Amino acid sequence: MTWREKDRWQRLFSTGAALSILLFSTGCERRQSALHPASVNAERIADLFWWMVGGGLIIWAVVMAIAFFATRAHPEAHGVRSARWLILGGGVAFPVVVLTGLLIYGLMLMPQLSSTADIDLEIDVAGEQWWWRVTYQTAAGEPVELANEIRLPVGQRALFRLTSPDVIHSFWIPPLGGKVDMIPGRTNTLVLEPTQTGTFRGACAEYCGSSHALMKFEVMVMEPDAFADWLNRQAQPAQPPQSESARQGQTAFLANGCGACHTVRGTEANGTLGPDLTHVGSRLSLGAGILPVDPEAFTRWIGHTGAIKPDVKMPSFGMLPEDQLPAMAQYLSELQ
Ligand code: CUA
Repeated sequence: MTWREKDRWQRLFSTGAALSILLFSTGCERRQSALHPASVNAERIADLFWWMVGGGLIIWAVVMAIAFFATRAHPEAHGVRSARWLILGGGVAFPVVVLTGLLIYGLMLMPQLSSTADIDLEIDVAGEQWWWRVTYQTAAGEPVELANEIRLPVGQRALFRLTSPDVIHSFWIPPLGGKVDMIPGRTNTLVLEPTQTGTFRGACAEYCGSSHALMKFEVMVMEPDAFADWLNRQAQPAQPPQSESARQGQTAFLANGCGACHTVRGTEANGTLGPDLTHVGSRLSLGAGILPVDPEAFTRWIGHTGAIKPDVKMPSFGMLPEDQLPAMAQYLSELQ
């Protein structure tokens, strides 16, 4: 193959790659897309993005037109005076004006985005390897802890206090707002005001170890009444197991030391190292957004933690007698 043919193939390949990126990126899930804003903050950020894209495209078109003019339309030498004008005008004045305008527009958004005034709700979120500890501060004064799931009332301003006990994580719900780092020893804040109900997806946006890519969470924006009901239910202690299988599962859960790391409020399990499981059966996902919530998924997770989430702290309990895993899975699924 001659270098000319090679060049042609390379060009064809890069055009194909660029086209497929364009095609596939339009298929990105809405529930995890910053370009489908569903909160006041995200709308402002998306506006800024589109202004920058539009401005960038116009500047690109002007530069291309000038390049065409100079190389094709009038390739002869230009006078010193007009060349100087072009360099000073297009190379100094124009970028200074455009970039200053964008900077001022971006800076004007910041106070609105970071204002912590008029808060309706406070939520603490800690990023841990590799899950999210979520704590609601309720009006009754008793904090309610859950994991890997955030629910918000539509139209209300929620203040997030973001921390980390281990390494740096980054909290990001693309349709609801910008990402904020979670840094050990610091508390960063973020205020979000959702404008639409729906289920969205958040993710950790900072590499934090082997299972960084398996650190997701679900965010459900609800009507305020439904949200209040949900939070009330989350504040209740766990229901005693209903079925015989779940009763056996609870016995196995306590006998195998699960309570050393997990809390099930209303039982003697009060560990705080891992996620609170009081209402784990009612959650939107298992294992921080990687498995559905059903008895089969619980059985898979407890028996193969390390295979599903590399380097996870929870040991695998695949060595338990065969009937114990499904019973435990039944018990956890019934923790509604
Ligand atoms: Cu946590 Cu990446």
